[in-house]
Amino acid sequence: MDTPLPVPDVTPLRGERVKFTPLRMENIHTHFRWNNDPELNRLDSEVPHEEESFGAFKDRFERMCEEPTPSNRTFEIHALEDETLIGVAYATRISPHSHHAKVGITIGDRDYWGRGYGRASFEILLSYCFNQIDLHRVSAETFEYHTAWRDLIEGMGFTREGTARDHLRRDGRYWDKGLYALLEPEYRARRGEVKQEPSVEAA
Ligand SMILES: CC(C)(COP(=O)(O)OP(=O)(O)OC[C@H]1O[C@@H](n2cnc3c(N)ncnc32)[C@H](O)[C@@H]1OP(=O)(O)O)[C@@H](O)C(=O)NCCC(=O)NCCS
Repeated sequence: MDTPLPVPDVTPLRGERVKFTPLRMENIHTHFRWNNDPELNRLDSEVPHEEESFGAFKDRFERMCEEPTPSNRTFEIHALEDETLIGVAYATRISPHSHHAKVGITIGDRDYWGRGYGRASFEILLSYCFNQIDLHRVSAETFEYHTAWRDLIEGMGFTREGTARDHLRRDGRYWDKGLYALLEPEYRARRGEVKQEPSVEAA
């Protein structure tokens, strides 16, 4: 039987510039705005943009606030400089058997784009994945037209493993999807860390 992965820490995860908190019902209007933003949808979702009513979103958001679930963890990202909620970070499709997950980050507030918050959030998300819930492999996907996300992923040390050719149809044409992953030893090697393995007693 699979050993469940560690229960996620619900205390804020904190870096130098951002902190992660669980999704909060009090922030529903900000999340609703980002959820219905066509440009964000184009950048971070394969599902075509469709306006969602507040009522339908509220039902869904309430369920998301009930996380953590075993297979999906979503966090709010707050800028420490002014405590503003600036986006969300998530690990999804978490496999307790194979210790892998897919990750994504959305800086929803455009005022905070291009200021290092994506990278700072990614650092915390990877630390959470590899140090707190003991993942071995973290994957990410990029759309061909989204070079900023691709550059960020490559900058974090992810390896491109393949291409889903013509995977996405947008703007009247097909686009490739890039498939990337980072393994735990690669993550530690980049940081100059060595994982502490439990010592084995000689027989
Ligand atoms: C993509 C996104 C996460 C990047 O976050 P960000 O805070 O704007 O990026 P940062 O300032 O931390 O930059 C980190 C790296 O990303 C890349 N990058 C960021 N903006 C870029 C741009 N406009 N063009 C090219 N590369 C860019 C660069 O490699 C940059 O490294 P550098 O500063 O050393 O050049 C953010 O713009 C975003 O959330 N966009 C909307 C949602 C989305 O696309 N999510 C990703 C898919 S789930």
